[in-house]
Amino acid sequence: MKKILVIGSFMTDLVVKADRFVEEGETIIGNSFNQFTGGKGANQAIAAARLGSNVEMIGELGKDSFGKDQIQSLENNNVKHDHVLFTGKAKSGVGNPQVDASGNNRIVVVPGANLKLTPKNLEELSNTIQSADIIVLQLEIPFETVYKAIELGHKYHKQIILNPAPAADLNQDYASMVTYMTPNEHEAQMLTGIDTSTPDGIKKSASELLKQGYQNVIITIGDKGSYFVNKNVEIQISAYKVKAVDSTAAGDAFIGAFAYGLSRGNSIQDSLQYASAVSAIAVTKMGAQPSLPSKKEVDDFLKNN
Ligand SMILES: Nc1ncnc2c1ncn2[C@@H]1O[C@H](COP(=O)(O)OP(=O)(O)O)[C@@H](O)[C@H]1O
Ligand SMILES: [Mg+2]
Repeated sequence: MKKILVIGSFMTDLVVKADRFVEEGETIIGNSFNQFTGGKGANQAIAAARLGSNVEMIGELGKDSFGKDQIQSLENNNVKHDHVLFTGKAKSGVGNPQVDASGNNRIVVVPGANLKLTPKNLEELSNTIQSADIIVLQLEIPFETVYKAIELGHKYHKQIILNPAPAADLNQDYASMVTYMTPNEHEAQMLTGIDTSTPDGIKKSASELLKQGYQNVIITIGDKGSYFVNKNVEIQISAYKVKAVDSTAAGDAFIGAFAYGLSRGNSIQDSLQYASAVSAIAVTKMGAQPSLPSKKEVDDFLKNN
């Protein structure tokens, strides 16, 4: 089986629930507090590992208890973490959602140590990059570091999956080195300026991304499934019909599962179909990492769907 290397973020969510949002200068008593390990990088690594992939993660944490919890979470999920870095100059990344009684949220994210992962760090870890086959990237670490990862991955002939989330403008000079560009519909719109609210808009946006140089484009479209295109083929995958409870990390489940499919040497079509099942299961459960299914859960789901 091929090795997947995720180079990305750790965030710890500190979730505070109250009847309503707090006003300026006010203090109110909330109803609950919960702490969850997350971050798009860690989520995608764990998504792939739960399915049985050989996964390693590179990222940066602070020397604090959140950092220790993140390592424990990787350990519990069989994600290798020998080259996760620790900085004394910033705290581990946190997100602090305030959730009101209706489930609306207001979130402050402080990326902290995630922003300390430098291009130079990756150059020093080039052996680890060479040891992998598939490199998975998102945009919660510095852009220059993402670009360096693309450059090194390309130099060593690796497959590169770039999940351009959260949405941002990207330097198109790196596009042709990216094997799979995988935005959701909002990110695709941001990257192309094309309205993606219709099926036609999705196709136009995807072909614009091909024009920008990306080799293969996958746009995920929530409960409308996903759309794949490259120079030669076009594939549409519909979403499984499930009772959606919490769509947090649907995209992360999809990316991790797609990488798993590729690592098994499965076809693009089969990998997309599998990713669709894994992400559908993830939306039927609360939370990010707790919602990511094991291979057995996916097998059972596929028997019944
Ligand atoms: N309500 C849903 N029912 C079934 N599958 C879903 C649902 N929402 C998302 N998915 C699956 O998860 C994938 C990723 O979701 P999407 O919302 O596009 O990503 P993101 O979480 O990045 O916004 C979709 O392509 C689809 O396969
Ligand atoms: Mg979405």
